[in-house]
Amino acid sequence: MARELGDHCYNIPSESIYGEITANSIMKLCSGIVFAREITILDIGSGSGYTLCNLAKAFPKNKCNLIGIEVSTIRAELSRTIIPKIIPPNVNRWDIIEKDILKLKNLSKIDLCFSFDKTFTKDLMKHIIDLQMDSCFYVISCHSYEEKNWIEMKRVPCRLRGSGQIITFFVYIKKI
Ligand SMILES: C[S@@+](CC[C@H](N)C(=O)[O-])C[C@H]1O[C@@H](n2cnc3c(N)ncnc32)[C@H](O)[C@@H]1O
Repeated sequence: MARELGDHCYNIPSESIYGEITANSIMKLCSGIVFAREITILDIGSGSGYTLCNLAKAFPKNKCNLIGIEVSTIRAELSRTIIPKIIPPNVNRWDIIEKDILKLKNLSKIDLCFSFDKTFTKDLMKHIIDLQMDSCFYVISCHSYEEKNWIEMKRVPCRLRGSGQIITFFVYIKKI
């Protein structure tokens, strides 16, 4: 299936990329989040890599380290060719880890963890939330999480690139 990704067009037989959200939507999701230091951003299921780069753009005053975890070899490889073309100047380091998140037992400390997880199964979400509880401060997800673990939660309607479709995301700040 062919799909346009900004200036980079690709064609992956039998792979449909379920589209990323717009850069404006990412700005909305990150508005109000402030860090006074270098930050680490993780995208669980990082797909094409566009969202990771747009997340870094939402924090122009911070040096950013980007990590993507992606189960699909073809998407991980694709993102490794796209990211160098679109990477913003405030990114220190980036890495795409080709792995099933279910096989990860822990994460390093993450400041902001994003996942476009609308289609993720219950088991997968439970595993992701367990990892996030240990490691992540801000969490952005399509799923609504149990409120007891978070000091703040907001709902943000986001647009899909190249379509009028709206997807609701949730932004959480962990209790510490
Ligand atoms: C809706 S796409 C989102 C892509 C990107 N995060 C974005 O927002 O544009 C979901 C991605 O999650 C990946 N994924 C699904 N299950 C996964 C798993 N168990 N471990 C890692 N990645 C997974 C898919 O291959 C797909 O690329």
